[in-house]
Amino acid sequence: MSKILVTGGAGFIGSNFVRMLLLGSDHELVNVDALTYAGNLENLHDVEKHSRYAFVKADIADAARMQRVFAEHHPEVVVHFAAESHVDRSVLDASAFIRTNVVGTQVLLDAARAHKVQRFVHVSTDEVYGSLGAWGYFTEETPLQANSPYSASKAASDLLVRAAVHTHHMDCVVTRCSNNYGPFQFPEKLIPLMIANALEGKPLPVYGDGKNVRDWIYVLDHCDGIRRAMEDGKAGEVYNFGGDAERENMFVVREILRQLGKGEELIKFVKDRPGHDRRYAMDSSKARAVLGWRPHHTFEDGLRKTIDWYVSNQQWWERVRSGAYQAYYEQQYGRR
Ligand code: NAD
Ligand code: TYD
Repeated sequence: MSKILVTGGAGFIGSNFVRMLLLGSDHELVNVDALTYAGNLENLHDVEKHSRYAFVKADIADAARMQRVFAEHHPEVVVHFAAESHVDRSVLDASAFIRTNVVGTQVLLDAARAHKVQRFVHVSTDEVYGSLGAWGYFTEETPLQANSPYSASKAASDLLVRAAVHTHHMDCVVTRCSNNYGPFQFPEKLIPLMIANALEGKPLPVYGDGKNVRDWIYVLDHCDGIRRAMEDGKAGEVYNFGGDAERENMFVVREILRQLGKGEELIKFVKDRPGHDRRYAMDSSKARAVLGWRPHHTFEDGLRKTIDWYVSNQQWWERVRSGAYQAYYEQQYGRR
């Protein structure tokens, strides 16, 4: 049993990871989350009273606060999810991305080093590798060529982790994963946005020609990969995870409408995202060979489960869509 400090555990992937470990291991977990618009304690309501779980509301970029949190909880392992995670928001304003993703990661590395944390798992993204043409895959050796302020801030954080390994001999592992989908994803990302809009009979805004390709992975397959990297990964190594499920955006949108029994007249082509990466596709052969990992959900199974979850949990997404999200939605889509 280890004491694990998870950052961003009230967000989409973090909450799925916290639940997976509380119900499927004997690890003790401390969840440190600032509860931004994307963080929601409701995501953990079924496990929040668990005897091996504690929650701390705190900002990872607050160095003094993080030193106190580490001094109080003495974690042996850190799994770092907390981030600003939405590309479109980073196009509108990158400042929070620099503060949380870059400064916050260095603050955590400093606290982890000062408190002799044994392992630091940094959760990163395939987007640090840039964009692919029609062929080829990202491997762990692909040069970092981040194109958006979001991916640039994640690439910066990956390099800070690398520097901590090389300079301070810290035991860090970096995971890079393709696009996740599944329960509890904030409905600003493609799949939950399209499901929620279709259920409400609102237009489905497709950027550009709709032919951009993402490699979709069900969130629990990603969480399984992070857990394996945490337990069996080698210090200083990077592990790629992908869903082996490349799909054009239009395919995804049409499939959602089909499964919901809605007509394609809801599709609305809108102005393209500035700097929109064309294609992401992951080569996960290292994780398969070294960690014994593989994704267990096909895209069809995962999407069906996800749609079922959003249909059954309408109150959840109606609540998170109210308030501050409305102002963002207006800014992002209102003037197109
Ligand atoms: P999310 O936006 O759903 O959740 C982010 C969480 O971090 C929220 O709970 C938020 O409150 C918290 N947070 C934000 N700023 C904070 C701060 N300053 N201090 C403390 N907590 C803060 O994100 P997600 O989709 O769950 O992504 C989690 C991680 O996985 C991110 O690091 C992201 O880059 C990475 N990732 C995401 C995907 C994807 O498809 N969503 C793919 C690969 C990697
Ligand atoms: P997104 O879920 O934002 O993930 P990322 O940009 O990090 O890969 O977007 C996935 C794809 O869907 C991407 O090609 C952009 C596109 N997209 C739309 O066409 N319309 C939308 O409203 C959104 C949010 C995304």
